[in-house]
Amino acid sequence: MIDGTMRAAPPTPRAPAGPGIGATLTDRRRPPLSSDHGVKTILRSAAARLVRARPLGKSPVNAYLRLNRRIWSHLTPSIMALTAARAYGAFLHRLVELRTARRQYFGTFFFRNRAQLRLVRKLAERRPVGSTFTMAFLGCSNGAELYSVLWTIRSARPDLRVISHAVDISEDILALAREGLYSLTSPGLVGEAIFARTTGEEAKAMFDAAAAGHQVRIKPWLQEGIAWHLGDAASEDILGLLGTHDMVLANNFLCHMDPPHAERCLRAIARLVAPGGHVVVSGVDLDVRTSVALDLRWIPVLDLMEDVHEGDPSLRNAWPWEYWGLEPLDKRRHDWRVRYASVFQLR
Ligand SMILES: C[S@@+](CC[C@H](N)C(=O)[O-])C[C@H]1O[C@@H](n2cnc3c(N)ncnc32)[C@H](O)[C@@H]1O
Repeated sequence: MIDGTMRAAPPTPRAPAGPGIGATLTDRRRPPLSSDHGVKTILRSAAARLVRARPLGKSPVNAYLRLNRRIWSHLTPSIMALTAARAYGAFLHRLVELRTARRQYFGTFFFRNRAQLRLVRKLAERRPVGSTFTMAFLGCSNGAELYSVLWTIRSARPDLRVISHAVDISEDILALAREGLYSLTSPGLVGEAIFARTTGEEAKAMFDAAAAGHQVRIKPWLQEGIAWHLGDAASEDILGLLGTHDMVLANNFLCHMDPPHAERCLRAIARLVAPGGHVVVSGVDLDVRTSVALDLRWIPVLDLMEDVHEGDPSLRNAWPWEYWGLEPLDKRRHDWRVRYASVFQLR
């Protein structure tokens, strides 16, 4: 854990762990196993059998997925909402998970999920006037998410003293984030059109033009109060390095880990959240997040939950065709409040 340029934030004083916005008592109980569980088990074993099958000495899975993808693109929203269609989608997604090796990506966007940004702002707005708000951004990539969040909070609450810690496991991408200099013409390491979700007005407010208009640089006031750390969010010493925070964001890197590793990492991340603080965690295997949230009795924040769930097209449109794809929200599930929340208050 190298390169921390500021000291770790001191532990935040213990705050009463009140319910998240709109959380209900029933969200806090571990629900009983239901028929969902039985269907899921059947689908999982059918997918595993299909992945192992070699009828003509060759796996039929890729051809099968290609054909299904073509058919799927013609389904209407009302057909897709049917229980059978969702179950079939889950089966296809399981096939994809089984045949794809997970690997890390740098992909990110400024203003990636507008609803999530609104919710983060609402939570920050509850802080007393003139107080300090400490945040940790894990898997910060080139800084697009971090600067979008900081701009959102600081524009809404200029009185808050926001202290941030940004962590990434890659030295190259962390250097980009720290420099805050972005090409307008080439996606570079990130491989995405990082400004595709940014309005002209936001760009003007956040960046200065650089290099004869081919690049833009984050305005210096947005870079104040950030400590940069090269490190592994899953490591044992991450708590000693970062301390605890009012809000910890851990978006879109846990999905690229195998589920057992992601679960260990998410439990380590939970220790970075001060009691009563919030964790923001999207882009993660939903079974992993649900199991950790239930086990640690996290309180789901229900405000804007559906908008946040739908808020990142890179995740929603990727289901069921990529392992990181996010399944449609299904209120018929007994555990839907915990399963589909991506912001939780911790006790
Ligand atoms: C897909 S990007 C997500 C960026 C941003 N959080 C977002 O949601 O747009 C994932 C980032 O997580 C970083 N990462 C992967 N594993 C990590 C780990 N164990 N600890 C810290 N960072 C990690 C990767 O290097 C990459 O920059």
